[in-house]
Amino acid sequence: LYPAGGRPGPASARGNRLKLPAHRMTTAIAAGAYPFLAEGGLGAEGVYIGRDVHAEASFCFDPFALYGRVEGFTNPNVLLAGVIGQGKSALAKSFALRSVAFGYRVYVPCDPKGEWTPVAGALGGTSVALGPGLPGRLNPLDAAPRPASVAQSDWVGEVRKRRLLLLGSLARTVLGRDLLPMEHTALDVALDTVVTRAAGSARTPLLGDIASALNSPDRLDEAAGLMSGRLGDAARDLAHAMRRLVHGDLAGMFDAPSTVAFDPNSPMLTIDLSRLGGSGDDTALVLAMTCASAWMESALTDPRGGRRWIVYDEAWRLMRHPGLLARMQAQWKLSRGLGIANLMVIHRLSDLLTAGDAGSRGRALAEGLLADCSTRIIYRQETDQILTAASLLGLTSVETEAISHLNRGRGLWKVAGRSFVVQHLLHPHELSLFDTDARMH
Ligand SMILES: Nc1ncnc2c1ncn2[C@@H]1O[C@H](COP(=O)(O)OP(=O)(O)OP(=O)(O)O)[C@@H](O)[C@H]1O
Ligand SMILES: [Mg+2]
Repeated sequence: LYPAGGRPGPASARGNRLKLPAHRMTTAIAAGAYPFLAEGGLGAEGVYIGRDVHAEASFCFDPFALYGRVEGFTNPNVLLAGVIGQGKSALAKSFALRSVAFGYRVYVPCDPKGEWTPVAGALGGTSVALGPGLPGRLNPLDAAPRPASVAQSDWVGEVRKRRLLLLGSLARTVLGRDLLPMEHTALDVALDTVVTRAAGSARTPLLGDIASALNSPDRLDEAAGLMSGRLGDAARDLAHAMRRLVHGDLAGMFDAPSTVAFDPNSPMLTIDLSRLGGSGDDTALVLAMTCASAWMESALTDPRGGRRWIVYDEAWRLMRHPGLLARMQAQWKLSRGLGIANLMVIHRLSDLLTAGDAGSRGRALAEGLLADCSTRIIYRQETDQILTAASLLGLTSVETEAISHLNRGRGLWKVAGRSFVVQHLLHPHELSLFDTDARMH
């Protein structure tokens, strides 16, 4: 032990014997010349993620805590991209799990691999499995309970708007094109007649009711009243599109009263679509994802519902469907005011470009979603994807270099303008709960 005065002798470098020539520079230059620079970090608020590799410090993240504190941080949404098996789902799951301790609730509207069910089980949450022969049913036209702060008349309008948005995006996905003006009107009129009739018998409208309304040209024309043109004929394609949801490969699942009630107190709710069957084309899964997320999102409209995460795992599957993107973007616009943060998982940034050609509506929607994510987490990217990623995200050359050399569980976090390389650390219990490699052994 040294005496209180410090280390004795010349090794202490005291006594003014070390003489260096004086040198003056600005703090900007001093910062550049000093080699050991590290980010100060985002602070200790929020969920522990792991280790900030450059600063050798803990890395914590809470999008609501950063709001208003970090410049350019305009929304709580997160985009997570990385090649297969790098630990994207593991990060999303442990983030969700740890958030529950902070009072967040977690919703996973579409889980195409069924890998969130054990997580919900461990937290005491609920999972609904949908698929041929399974008992689970969701009615995407369910009206959410009215929040106390919204007037009854406004709420009726809101529910109608959401239902129309849903029907429009389902039809657009099946038809593979935008709707014509008369088709929009037909959906409008069909929805109104069905809602009026259902209200008369005090039950909730079903997709099957919409399909049969669209399929009755005379009734449609009559309901449309004095409008010019024959609505019934214009609705023919729509009627066939709706039929797919009612009689096609999704028969039953979304055309019956819901078998689960939405419980706002449950810590986690997931919808398992893994048993939907993987036929070559993705349309059935995409339609199911649309219905399931619409059902769940409409239940999340209570502004006093607390802070919530909505996780879209495997969201790259949705990117090719502009109808879906439009619905998702409308939902995201509302979400900040409701205390909802969205987490979207994709493989590569070019998944966003598959939404359409440059300048198309689909592309604009996908780019809008990217702009709506103040936090972007990039896990390893394929070499041929790196330039796309760099240009879409505006990465520096050092960051670009970094994303081609990331290990499993390690990602580049771009939080508004700041960047971090973070190693996600898993607890052994989490590791065994989240293991998706188990099926490979
Ligand atoms: N931070 C980590 N530390 C150690 N192991 C991890 C970590 N993250 C993930 N793993 C392991 O990697 C495996 C694959 O992870 P995960 O399923 O999350 O990958 P993914 O990126 O979601 O893949 P996919 O694109 O196929 O969905 C997990 O089973 C887990 O065992
Ligand atoms: Mg995954």
